[in-house]
Amino acid sequence: MKFSAVASLAKRGKSDLIALPFWKEEKGVKAAAALGTLKEEVDLALSSGDFHGKLGEVLTLYPNGEAEKRLVLLGLGEKKETSLEKMRRAYCALTKRCNSLKVESITVLPPEVKELPSGELSAAIAEGIALSNYRFEELKTFKDKETHAVLLKKVAFVGFSKKELAEANSAAACSEGVHFARNLVNRNADTVTPKYLGEQAKALAKKYSAVKATVFDKKRIEKEKMELLLAVNRGSSNDPAFIILEYKGNPRSKDHTVVVGKGVTYDTGGLNLKPTGYMETMKSDMSGAAAALGVIEAVAAIGLKKNVTAVIPTTENSIGGKSYKPGDVYGSYLGKTVEIGNTDAEGRLILADALAYASKKLKPTRMIDFATLTGAIVIALGEDASGLMSNNDALAKELIHAGEKTYERVWRMPLFEEYKEQLKSHVADIKNVGGRAAGSITAALFLQEFVGEDIPWAHLDIAGTAFLDHKAKHYNPKHATGVGVRLMIQFLKDL
Ligand code: BES
Ligand code: ZN
Ligand code: ZN
Repeated sequence: MKFSAVASLAKRGKSDLIALPFWKEEKGVKAAAALGTLKEEVDLALSSGDFHGKLGEVLTLYPNGEAEKRLVLLGLGEKKETSLEKMRRAYCALTKRCNSLKVESITVLPPEVKELPSGELSAAIAEGIALSNYRFEELKTFKDKETHAVLLKKVAFVGFSKKELAEANSAAACSEGVHFARNLVNRNADTVTPKYLGEQAKALAKKYSAVKATVFDKKRIEKEKMELLLAVNRGSSNDPAFIILEYKGNPRSKDHTVVVGKGVTYDTGGLNLKPTGYMETMKSDMSGAAAALGVIEAVAAIGLKKNVTAVIPTTENSIGGKSYKPGDVYGSYLGKTVEIGNTDAEGRLILADALAYASKKLKPTRMIDFATLTGAIVIALGEDASGLMSNNDALAKELIHAGEKTYERVWRMPLFEEYKEQLKSHVADIKNVGGRAAGSITAALFLQEFVGEDIPWAHLDIAGTAFLDHKAKHYNPKHATGVGVRLMIQFLKDL
């Protein structure tokens, strides 16, 4: 999608649709005079009482003799109670109407509002549009042409300054990273294998000169003694991979953020097989990996002057004659031995090797992992917040702040020593599961055992936020949301 700016309504070019924003119960727009010939149409519509300006309200009109066939009145809600998120949602509603009208080019008037900083407002509007302008239809055959989605291609913003347009374009680049992540999650698990994720990483390195990809194959993983990754992989006929994708936006700085993403391309549960009703969405168990790749795509597209490395341990958690076994003990990259209490707690195992490897080899200033790690976090926080666990208060605070700004909200949970009791093993150094109580916390405490000492680390459990099983939420479509990408970009920008 291409964003552009025009100086005023009078100077606008032709498009399929023009959208004018209205606050709730606002009688006539402030800029009414500037509306020119549109004013009459607008006044008639407003005086009809059919449009109230409620947040997300959309009224389509068909004006006579304008530069566009359609005029949309867009409701913004109460001005006093506005927020960046409300602006995202309002412009999302506009985009959905545009998509159902199958229009490709629109002219958009942004609202005048002192309550929100102009750069952030333009970014939020652009995000509302770009994030909703998405469909995953690769697996449909379109026998019925009517249902084929037509997405927006061109958006002209009236009155955007150079800086505002730049903010909008940066938001669009970030949204590309989100769409990239969503597509990886939405595709078949039989398509998105560990090998495929490695190829995606290499493709990013080819596309951007500041990105370098290294992909360890099974042989190299064996040589590195990533024994937990190998254990989880045993039941699968697809080899594992270990991906390191480096983006150097500021080569002179030593500051370096490592983003680790859980890449279980399908989670059957292993020998502790998941029952019906719990397995059907498990192609989404690589959402952490998708977010990490999406972050690299986005930072590279934006050209952010920060150093970021994505680290992705990836395998299927399958079931077969060679499957790893509950009750058995396996080694790890760090050397600690792990008793397998449950083969369905596989994410923490592959992440343990990745966190230990990154701690030892990559000199991270900070490490942040994204993982669809526990069902327990879905019970605790639902679909509207990711779980945050961290060994560092400053890092946690920065992530919470980035979460509030992007509305990819995170909620912190404690890592009290006492919970560790549950991970004690009679036969090994540690066990991979505790009891049912505090399941998300014991999972995080397990990970912490593999994080290098003194490295600020945060774990984001995105099991509830990465995949919407039932229905779309505003600009997040049903199924993959691409959560984590916008959060990390905001976090990195604010560093
Ligand atoms: N991938 C799942 C977690 C999950 C659940 C993600 C629901 C998305 C939606 C993970 O590997 C898992 O199975 N965790 C187990 C851990 C348990 C065996 C300790 C769980 O949460 O039940
Ligand atoms: Zn599992
Ligand atoms: Zn899993």
